[in-house]
Amino acid sequence: MSKNFKRTLITSALPYANGPVHIGHLAGVYIPADIYARYLRLKGEDVLFIGGSDEHGVPIALKAKAEGTSPQEVVDRFHYIIKKSFEDLGITFDIYSRTTSETHYETASDFFRKLYDKGEFVEKTSEQYYDEEAKQFLADRYIVGKCPHCANEKAYGDQCESCGTSLSPLDLIEPKSAISGSTPILKETKHWYLPLDKHEGWLKQWILEDHKEWKSNVYGQCKSWLDMGLHPRAVSRDLDWGVPVPVDGAEGKVLYVWFDAPIGYISNTKELLPNDWEKWWKDESTRMLHFIGKDNIVFHCIVFPAMLKADGTYILPENVPANEFLNLEGDKISTSRNWAVWLHEYLEDFPGKQDVLRYVLTANAPETKDNDFTWKDFQARNNNELVAVFGNFVNRALVLTHKYFDGKIPTRHEITDYDKKTLEEFAGVKKDLEHYLDLFRFRDALKEAMNLARIGNKYLADTEPWKIAKTDMDRTETILNIALQITANLAIAFEPFLPFTSLKIRQLINKTDKSDLSWQELGSIDLLPVGHTINQPELLFEKIEDEVIAKQVQKLLDTKKANELKEHKASPLKQDIVFDDFTKLDIRVGKVLECVKVPKADKLLQFKIDDGLGGRTILSGIAQHYKPEELIGKNICFIANLPARTIRGIESQGMILSVENADGSLYLVQPAGDVLPGSPIV
Ligand code: 2FM
Ligand code: ZN
Repeated sequence: MSKNFKRTLITSALPYANGPVHIGHLAGVYIPADIYARYLRLKGEDVLFIGGSDEHGVPIALKAKAEGTSPQEVVDRFHYIIKKSFEDLGITFDIYSRTTSETHYETASDFFRKLYDKGEFVEKTSEQYYDEEAKQFLADRYIVGKCPHCANEKAYGDQCESCGTSLSPLDLIEPKSAISGSTPILKETKHWYLPLDKHEGWLKQWILEDHKEWKSNVYGQCKSWLDMGLHPRAVSRDLDWGVPVPVDGAEGKVLYVWFDAPIGYISNTKELLPNDWEKWWKDESTRMLHFIGKDNIVFHCIVFPAMLKADGTYILPENVPANEFLNLEGDKISTSRNWAVWLHEYLEDFPGKQDVLRYVLTANAPETKDNDFTWKDFQARNNNELVAVFGNFVNRALVLTHKYFDGKIPTRHEITDYDKKTLEEFAGVKKDLEHYLDLFRFRDALKEAMNLARIGNKYLADTEPWKIAKTDMDRTETILNIALQITANLAIAFEPFLPFTSLKIRQLINKTDKSDLSWQELGSIDLLPVGHTINQPELLFEKIEDEVIAKQVQKLLDTKKANELKEHKASPLKQDIVFDDFTKLDIRVGKVLECVKVPKADKLLQFKIDDGLGGRTILSGIAQHYKPEELIGKNICFIANLPARTIRGIESQGMILSVENADGSLYLVQPAGDVLPGSPIV
């Protein structure tokens, strides 16, 4: 650690408690933060890792309204799901609390009040939309209207989700309140603003000059904000869900969620260490790091530091290693569209496979650019890397030790040049791992750890001790001693990344004491003393079969279909007709007597219909939607008075009615009761 820091405070973005946590959150924020926290703890450093739920904001209030429940009920539901799923994935927060805690209300309120008393805010009155029926000001999300850019009728006051344009409520054409549906009026309201423009000077120096080492995606975003010039930001809202603004005359106003959420880091530290929290926040020898996703950069690099500076007693973050976004099967992950792999569902569907997810999401982390998660890649990384390399190597080393040496670490005799080369290859593993971890390059660090497993796997494949054992026991002993030392090194190297696997290896090699296999010993070839007994081998990883992956892919396809149906807009109405036009159509019910595919026609089925008049043949283009045999005996509806048409040499005497669904699938129209063939539709 440079600059003589004595301790590290790690914060990870507080996820909104309006939905569970998904793989995008994990890859972007929580897995890297956990790897880093574990790494520092392994090195014996003083670390505090803070997490918690972000429980305020308009989307939560809106969700509660839509469900006819209270915001508290919504956040209670998701807070516990999120907290439990983090625990189950092995995310080692020192505390995971919430912004509806008593400590947080008090801390956030006091924070605002101090800045208010110091004159750090600007008060401004402006006109905002007000719903006279609901008697409340409308947050941007509560106003719906026509988008001035694409004419989408359901654009929100902050954004049109159809064309993606950022909007302000005043841009909307024919605005309506999402609460009562009435047309809102403009009314004056007072709010408090943090004058970011006044902070611009020191922010520029602090970020652009003093922190050139920040990741380029973070530095670049900050630079572009600072180059554009900063403006005052409102830190209060007219809303009934949040921390009340602690000032006289501020009834009905709460702190803006982005003001109170980062204070949540402080509140949670206070909740954990009521008497000792200040050294983590106010002592210059604390190194503070914010792990976040790219959409949070401006708040953690500009707004929150300005708040901390305005208070005057806090330290500023030393680094903000933000990640880009993870997409899912080529599409943006979305809570509202249910386009996600939810952590709590993964843990249920893949019990005991926490480390597989941790591995895949780290190996594919969106560290420098957006990345894509696919189930195929998940399967390939498990089967080809974890099973075929890592698991295979460890299993071979353990099985052979039991086979030839009764589970005892054999002696290392004279080593060959090849052994020497192998040992040299991983001698630098600690230095290399630390190099990448210190730079928050977790993908590269994981590659280094995996490289150790590859070295081991190659060593056994090349030296073939199972063959040598037939002729040279000393050599076999040496080879297995080296393989076992590499195995012990794997337990150390993977501890920050795959903690469950690391523990399992420790159990297998019978080294579970805290003092055994310390991080400092990584790279040593004397971790397991000769004669030390290991336990019976067990597989570290198992192959994931195609069916398991197909099930997950199907789940996503079902979501896609459900979304298409939800987003489907009915086609515009055709021109009006008169009743006589309708009565001209002779629509009847018929019973399917026979149904076969028309040869060489992909889409056509040939029906023999009982029409109550001796029967008729009809062709219909639904072969891609039904199997012929499943239709025999079913009642269908058909138009009986169309002129006959010959298609592919077959005369079709009418037309069978079907419905076309939003996704293009066809469904036959059927009477809802049991009716006689030939019955007319009236
Ligand atoms: O983007 C989000 O999910 C926010 N809830 C993150 C808040 S981070 C911090 F400020 F609490
Ligand atoms: Zn639009």
